[in-house]
Amino acid sequence: MQPIDTQILRADPENIARAAHLLQSGALVAFPTETVYGLGADARNGKAVALIFQAKNRPQFNPLIVHVPSMEAAQRYVHWSDMAQKVAEAFWPGPLSLVLPLKDNHGLSDLVTAGLSTLALRVPAQPTARALLERFGGPVAAPSANPSGRISPTTAEHVISGLGGKIEAVLDDGPCGVGLESTILGLTSAPQLLRPGGIPLEALTDVLGTSPAARTSKDPLTAPGQMHSHYAPQSAVRLNVTAPRADELLLGFGAVDGDLNLSPSGDLVEAAANLFAHLHALDAQGRPIAVAPVPNHGLGVAINDRLNRAAAPR
Ligand code: TXA
Ligand code: MG
Repeated sequence: MQPIDTQILRADPENIARAAHLLQSGALVAFPTETVYGLGADARNGKAVALIFQAKNRPQFNPLIVHVPSMEAAQRYVHWSDMAQKVAEAFWPGPLSLVLPLKDNHGLSDLVTAGLSTLALRVPAQPTARALLERFGGPVAAPSANPSGRISPTTAEHVISGLGGKIEAVLDDGPCGVGLESTILGLTSAPQLLRPGGIPLEALTDVLGTSPAARTSKDPLTAPGQMHSHYAPQSAVRLNVTAPRADELLLGFGAVDGDLNLSPSGDLVEAAANLFAHLHALDAQGRPIAVAPVPNHGLGVAINDRLNRAAAPR
């Protein structure tokens, strides 16, 4: 990948508008929140979201938190509940992410949810983050703005030292107030603490009137390696295929063309953006799926990780 000349933008209204414009164009922009700096992309743009995984060098497609400016904006994407209303009123804007059931026609990239039927949402409180989200006017997917396996950034300098040359810009508004990621509360059934963070458990317990359940080792998202096992296609999947059998559908890549092609030009970013949608589309046809070889470098590592899970014996 060609290095980018990463812009460091002091957080003033003009630069916030510039950052919003960059997000609209599909570029990656790091921005401050009260917890840590986030690496933002338009959550509706599959290629932009794929760039997040490429820039962070994440070997797996973990689901991402979507940032919105208000509770009303959040309700556009998920099935809301009385419980959600209660905690959102108490803690939004603020360092709390809520996991709720995804609505149909949500319009988000499948990479944001990693193919799950739930979505993590957050309304940040940091003024620059709020201004950016309002100016942009759409959902922003943002993991912490650090390379995979490194410590989360709480200053623009941290962001530059980890991701300089890999992202378009960072909005610099000084150090983060909380300095610790958001608390993640699962609300798809009984309240469950999915990650401790900026909102203390005691405060959540007060508002919920009951202590949220702790995550157990049986939960699907506990270890990244277990995450996708429930979301494998119904049909059998065979990898590294250049010549499919008569009964198989072929998911192509590059010159190996098929019923669908992850990226006819062999672009791994485009392939990542198409991965979940193409798997879903082929699976709906109810025939075994063969998949063309995908090079195992860059985003190809995460793509192959997901494909290996899909092909694992069940
Ligand atoms: O404070 C924060 O939350 C920061 C700032 C930038 O907002 N973001 C952040 O994102 O920490 P990230 O990607 O580093 O962590 C997201 C976590 C992951 O552990 C992921 O597994 C979990 O959220 N997550 C996302 N979607 C989920 C879902 N649908 N169900 C369960 N967990 C989910
Ligand atoms: Mg992180």
